[in-house]
Amino acid sequence: MDKKELLYEGKAKKVFSTENPDYCIVSYKDDATAFNGEKKGTIIGKGVVNNRMSNFMFKLLEEKGIPTDFVEELNDRDTVLKKVEIVPLEVIVRNKAAGSLSKRLGLPEGTPMKTPVLEFCYKDDALGDPMVNEYHILAAGFATKEEIDIISKYALKINEIMIDFFKECKVDLIDFKIEFGRYKGQILLADEISPDTCRFWDMDTQEKLDKDRFRRDLGGVEEAYAEMMKRIGLA
Ligand code: C5P
Repeated sequence: MDKKELLYEGKAKKVFSTENPDYCIVSYKDDATAFNGEKKGTIIGKGVVNNRMSNFMFKLLEEKGIPTDFVEELNDRDTVLKKVEIVPLEVIVRNKAAGSLSKRLGLPEGTPMKTPVLEFCYKDDALGDPMVNEYHILAAGFATKEEIDIISKYALKINEIMIDFFKECKVDLIDFKIEFGRYKGQILLADEISPDTCRFWDMDTQEKLDKDRFRRDLGGVEEAYAEMMKRIGLA
């Protein structure tokens, strides 16, 4: 399958049309942004890590009953996906306090949550992706009640599968963000699961192995992405 027209260029990916109108090809870049595009940089090799790790995770989740948009990995950076209509929500699941939740609730980073926390943000860069609840989502028409229920159920199941998987890799899954798409009347997991979109802490040392190293200028960014590839057995 070949890349045809460039359909969209985002912060970290390009999306191309293909000869099959049901499919598209995503191409992962090394460009990194944080704080809604205010901070920009490059993480060498990030596109390869995110493409391969995301495809690996999507295949694992498919096996466990989560429908996804994954079709076929073409090479280190390019993957064929089902062409979905993205539900305009960032779905965040948290197991320990970190980042914006720590700030908002005044909880020290690493505080365990008594139950997983599920959050929705409206995907809109100009508004800074504001947090919304089910009432906002229904009132604004971002998704239907049935879609919210399916998305919530999948997000919590994905969390359980990922906690177990990363435990075996000696990695603590602190939190993550996922997105969903509509495809022929079905809700599919879409976008990516990678160190850009998850917080991964080494289980023994609590060392950060994710994009927080870039966001917070901690150094060792490329090394952290490479370490995650090793932990999941892809390097
Ligand atoms: O910044 P915050 O603490 O709300 O992030 C929660 C989780 O969602 C983190 O794992 C972060 O990497 C991810 N996230 C993301 N894209 C965003 C916002 C958050 O992948 N736009």
